[in-house]
This record gives sequence, C-alpha cells and structure tokens, in this order.
Amino acid sequence: MTKENINRGRFIVFEGLDGSGKSTQIDLLCERLKKDGRNVVKTAEPTMLTTGGLIRDALAGNYPRSSEELSALFLADRIAHNVNPKNGIIKLLAEGADVVCDRYYYSSFAYQGMDCDLDWVIKMNIGCASVTKPDVCFFIDVPTEVCKERVDKRGGFREIFEREQNTLERVRAKYSEVFKKLEDENIVIIRSEGAPEEIAKVIYSSLPHFSD
Ligand code: TYD
Repeated sequence: MTKENINRGRFIVFEGLDGSGKSTQIDLLCERLKKDGRNVVKTAEPTMLTTGGLIRDALAGNYPRSSEELSALFLADRIAHNVNPKNGIIKLLAEGADVVCDRYYYSSFAYQGMDCDLDWVIKMNIGCASVTKPDVCFFIDVPTEVCKERVDKRGGFREIFEREQNTLERVRAKYSEVFKKLEDENIVIIRSEGAPEEIAKVIYSSLPHFSD
C-alpha cells in the first residue's frame, strides 16, 4: 500500500444492459460496505447536473442528438461528475469514500460506440485527465431476453435504447468488443445466474484492496 492510497476510497463501477439487475447489485454492495464501516456514496450517470438533464431529454427522444453529440454530452457530464467541488468523484475518493457508480465510460463505448467511431470515444474519455479511471468495473451479464422481459414488466416510458431487443443484442455485442480492447482496465464479468444474494457475494469477494 502506498502512502497516498492509505485513505483513498475505491471507485467501483457497475455496467450492464437496461434490465440487467445492476441496481439491485449496487444496493446490496453499498449495504455490505456500510456494514464494514465504510463511507459509501452511490451515484449514477447520466447525473442530475445540468449536463445530465440535456442527456435525459435526448434519451427520452424529445431532442434527437447524433451519436457524436451524445458522446460529447456524456463526456461533459462525466467531467462535471468528477470535478464538481461539492460532491464530485475526485473529492469523495480523496476524502476516503467508496464511490459506487451506476454506468460510466464503458456505457459510452458500448452505446455511442455502436454508431460512431469507437476509438474516438475511447480516446476522449480515457485520455481526459479529469476522468478518473475506475478501480474495478463489474459487468452484470444477463441474456438479452431476460433484460427485455424485465424492462417490459417495469412498464412505463421507454428511453431510446430500451425499446428493441435487437438494440440490446447490439449493445451486448459492443460491450464484449470493448472489453477485449481495454487491456488496462480491471473488468470483472459477473454471469448473473442464481439468487441476487449469491451474485452479491461474488461481487464483494472480487473487490480490489489497495493492499493487494
Ligand atoms: P437510465 O434509465 O438512467 O439508467 P439504467 O438504464 O442504467 O437504469 O438510462 C441510462 C441510459 O443511458 C441507458 O440506456 C444507457 C445510456 N448511456 C449511454 O448511452 N452512454 C453513457 O455514457 C451512459 C452513462 C449511459
């Protein structure tokens, strides 16, 4: 353990398709970390900041945006998420909190990377000094039929990427392609079979420790 790391929190990201059950796993992990006495902050992208609002308008289909525009908006939102002086990721990690984030740049690679130059999207995110690299990314891997069923059951309004099973298949294939490219990232693929509590144990036991 290096001296600078002694008090730094861990940056833990969850990724998966819409309806993959990542929210359940995020809640279970946050509870477990709190029981361990950790200061835990749960967060998500798109954020609730101004940039996140612009993105939600586009995802709802109210204001159509090209993939390039969306990539840039997600990056702007991610930078604000990192650097905002009130509760930004950089500040929270430095204060020792574990930050658990629902979606991060891997979503930009998988979703925006479907319709624009993937290498450009990767480069602008990973090359940005204000975008913290996660300590670990858990990808909750669930068959697309199961995701579709859950999204259908939830009912209500569907965002643009939640409408077709075909889109889910394309996103899943893109995540696989992306993970093969990202050799420097700590990505743990969680095959989501069995009870949520069992999956939660696998996730907990795969967490990085700074003393490793
Ligand atoms: P939302 O309903 O907020 O969350 P979730 O489906 O994860 O419960 O949807 C977020 C949507 O935004 C989702 O369809 C994926 C998409 N997205 C991108 O396209 N690029 C990104 O960089 C991020 C963070 C999300």
